[in-house]
Amino acid sequence: MGGNASAADSFGREGSGWRPDHRRQIGIWLLVICAAVFGITVLGGVTRLTGSGLSMVDWQPLLGVVPPLSEAQWLRLFEMYRQSPEYIHINTGMSLGDFKTIFWFEYGHRMVGRMIGLLFLLPFLYFLIRRRIPLQLIPKLLAMFVLGGLQGVMGWYMVMSGLAEDPFVSPYRLTAHFSLAMVIYVFVLWVALDLLSPRAQEVSPALTRYWWLTFGAIVLVVATMVSGAFVAGLKAGYAYNTFPTMAGHWIPDGYWYLDPAWRNLFENLASVQFNHRVLALLTTAAVIALWIAGALRHTERFNNVTRTTLHLAPLAILLQATLGVATLLLFVPTPLAAAHQGGAVVVLTVLVVVLHQMRLPARGPAAAPLSAKELAARLAS
Ligand code: HEM
Repeated sequence: MGGNASAADSFGREGSGWRPDHRRQIGIWLLVICAAVFGITVLGGVTRLTGSGLSMVDWQPLLGVVPPLSEAQWLRLFEMYRQSPEYIHINTGMSLGDFKTIFWFEYGHRMVGRMIGLLFLLPFLYFLIRRRIPLQLIPKLLAMFVLGGLQGVMGWYMVMSGLAEDPFVSPYRLTAHFSLAMVIYVFVLWVALDLLSPRAQEVSPALTRYWWLTFGAIVLVVATMVSGAFVAGLKAGYAYNTFPTMAGHWIPDGYWYLDPAWRNLFENLASVQFNHRVLALLTTAAVIALWIAGALRHTERFNNVTRTTLHLAPLAILLQATLGVATLLLFVPTPLAAAHQGGAVVVLTVLVVVLHQMRLPARGPAAAPLSAKELAARLAS
């Protein structure tokens, strides 16, 4: 990776004079944001797994920053929680000490969310005032900020579903909250890579097929992640704690009984877990096949970043599958389940980096056929 101001980047700034060190600074700042989004994703998982997500029964985007500071304030918040359906139906008799524990997880998750907002906004304003952000990049950065705000609203919309008479968070809203986090993560990562690696190799015709295979593997990973979020949302990991069969059956009893039938995909505990297993195994096989194909047929065409990252893919996916099975067999212990959630983001990251490094040639006028000399030079590089 590294900058070269004279090379064209995906912002079309050929010879624009955008200083490489400024581009690097912005790229690194966005990578830091990615790391923070990764962290809050895992923290969000821990908040869910420790049953802490419904401990704060209101949302005050600005005033909610100050935690309870006196015993009287704690008692007031605890009293509010004691009126909530979760306390009445599930946590009846919970002590103030236990309430404080679940409160701190939820409070921490919300605070880290706000801190990421500041970590984005303050450098953004700084770079903007110092005129270090090219015009083309501004809409992308604004879109990231808006998506971040939307994620906060989505989080509250999710929590609201659990404050109702039936104190269970909607699996649909949980999945939407998790998926939006991943959209933000991949978007920021992609732009950061664009900035840090503007000369990522263009895909030679021989690699185009491989680009699409990598893209296909990413689609499978995303599908497995979304189905995993439904497993988490339905708490389906606490049932059928055997592997590879489910309660002795390859296909569990009651796989398809809900009406209308599509609801089985999202609301039937047995099908949701079964589908996650099947998707996970397919994904694992696909990623390993992708690695073998890349290692056997294309290594000499890859740049160093692609080659190294690709070798991480089988390790990441095997670890992820192992974590998934262990989470299930051990009845969802928080550290393992949180690692499984984070592991999915690692797998996604590895494949997105590989894909980014094999950038497809631009379409349109920029994709004018290369002369024989240019083509030879490009293939040799
Ligand atoms: C190999 C690719 C896999 C990927 C990418 C993946 C991804 C995920 C994701 C993203 C979640 C949801 C986390 C959340 O939103 O809270 C999840 C949950 C879960 N996955 Fe997987 N998974 C994989 C493999 C497996 C396997 C092989 C199993 C077991 C057979 C498994 C069992 C589970 C269980 C039990 C949960 C729910 C855990 C909880 O309640 O926190 N996963 N998975």
